[in-house]
Amino acid sequence: MQKPHGGKLVNRVLSEEARKDLLGHIDEFPRLAVDKDAAKDIENIAVGVFSPLQGFVCKEDYDSIIHRSRLANDTAWTIPLTLDIEPALANRLTIGDKLLLTYNNEPLALLYIEDKYSLNKEEYSKNVFGTTSPDHPGVSKINNMNETLLGGPIDLINKTPKEYYKYSLAPIETRILFEEKGWRTIVAFQTRNTPHIGHEYVQKAALTFVDGILINPLIGRKKSGDFKDEVILKSYEVLMEHYFLKENSLLAILETEMRYGGPKEAIFHAIMRKNFGCTHFIVGRDHAGVGNFYEPFAAQEIFDDFPDLGITPLFFRSFSYCKKCGSVVNEKICPHPISDHIMFKGTEIRNLLQKGERPSELLVRPEVADIIIQNKNPFVD
Ligand code: ADX
Repeated sequence: MQKPHGGKLVNRVLSEEARKDLLGHIDEFPRLAVDKDAAKDIENIAVGVFSPLQGFVCKEDYDSIIHRSRLANDTAWTIPLTLDIEPALANRLTIGDKLLLTYNNEPLALLYIEDKYSLNKEEYSKNVFGTTSPDHPGVSKINNMNETLLGGPIDLINKTPKEYYKYSLAPIETRILFEEKGWRTIVAFQTRNTPHIGHEYVQKAALTFVDGILINPLIGRKKSGDFKDEVILKSYEVLMEHYFLKENSLLAILETEMRYGGPKEAIFHAIMRKNFGCTHFIVGRDHAGVGNFYEPFAAQEIFDDFPDLGITPLFFRSFSYCKKCGSVVNEKICPHPISDHIMFKGTEIRNLLQKGERPSELLVRPEVADIIIQNKNPFVD
C-alpha cells in the first residue's frame, strides 16, 4: 500500500464527542467567513489530501516552500497553503488565539493560530508561478489577497455540502477501494478539461502498465473560458461508460481550485494523488499550464529535483492524430512530419463545440461532444 506523503495520513476531523463539546461554547471564538474554495481546502486538510500538512503553513514552512520547494523538515512541497485575513481582524488576533472559520454561516473548522506573518506578493508569484504578470490567473489571485497570513493547525467541525456526492472520496476511502479491488499499482490522471482523444490515449497508455487508473478531475475555481465542473464530470461519465473497463478504472473528484502553476503545481498534484493511494502520476504536455507561461515539458523536468517524492511520474510527449499512421501517436513513435498530424488543440475544439458542432470523431468522442453541446453554456464565465 502506498505510504501517504510525510508517512502518515492526516486526520483533523473532530470526533463526535469533541465536536459536540466545542459546539456548546462556539460563540466565544472570533469568526472568519471563508469562501467555497477555502472551505474545500480546509476539508482537504482535515481528511489528509494535503498530508502531512495539519493546517495552514506557518512562516518557517512558507519561506522554505517559496525558496526551496520543501517544508522546513525537507519534505517535498511546492505550493504553500495559506489563509489571509483582513487588516481589522488581523489587528485583533494574536498567536495562541483560536479562530472559528465558518462557511455558509455554519461552523466549519477551528484554527489554532500559531503564526501571523506577511505575504510578499511579488516574491510569492515569482517563486511559485515563475512570473509576476497579472495576466497569470494564479498571480492575479495572489494580488487580490490580504497581506496578513495566519498559520496553524485546524480541526474540522462540519464537512462541506457535496454537490457530487457519488464521486467525492476522501483518501481513506480511495485507499480502501483500491485494496478491495486488489489494485497494487494505480496511476492517477489529473484534469481540468473535458476529455479529447489525446487525453484518452495518455490515460490508456499509462493504464497498460498498471493495475488501475484513478481519473481525478479537479473540481473548483477555474479561470474564465475553462469548462464548467458539471460538464467535465458528465463528459467523463459518458467516456468511462463507453470506452473504459469498469474493473480497472475509477472516476472520483478532487475539490480544490486550479492554481495554474505549471511545474510547481504538477508536483503538488502528484503529492495529493499519492495521498489518495496512487503509485503513479501522469504528466503530459503543459501540465497545469496557462497561456505560454511555461515550456511544454517543464512540468516533467521538475520531477528531477524530487527523487524522494514517493510517487512515480509517467511522462508523455504530445499526442496527436497522424493521418499516415491512421492512429493517435506521439513524436516518440511516429516518423511522419507535423503536416501529417491533426493536433488536439483545446481552443479549436472549444470553438467548434461552442457553435454546436461536433468535432471530428478522431479528436473527440461523439458522446462527449454531445454532452458539451447539450449544455447551453459549458464554459466558466
Ligand atoms: S491540466 O491543467 O489539468 O494539466 P488537462 O486537463 O488538459 O490540463 O490535462 C490533463 C493531463 O493530460 C496533463 O497531464 C496534460 O499534460 C495531459 N495532456 C493533455 N493533452 C495532451 C496531449 N495532447 N498529449 C499529451 N498529454 C496531454
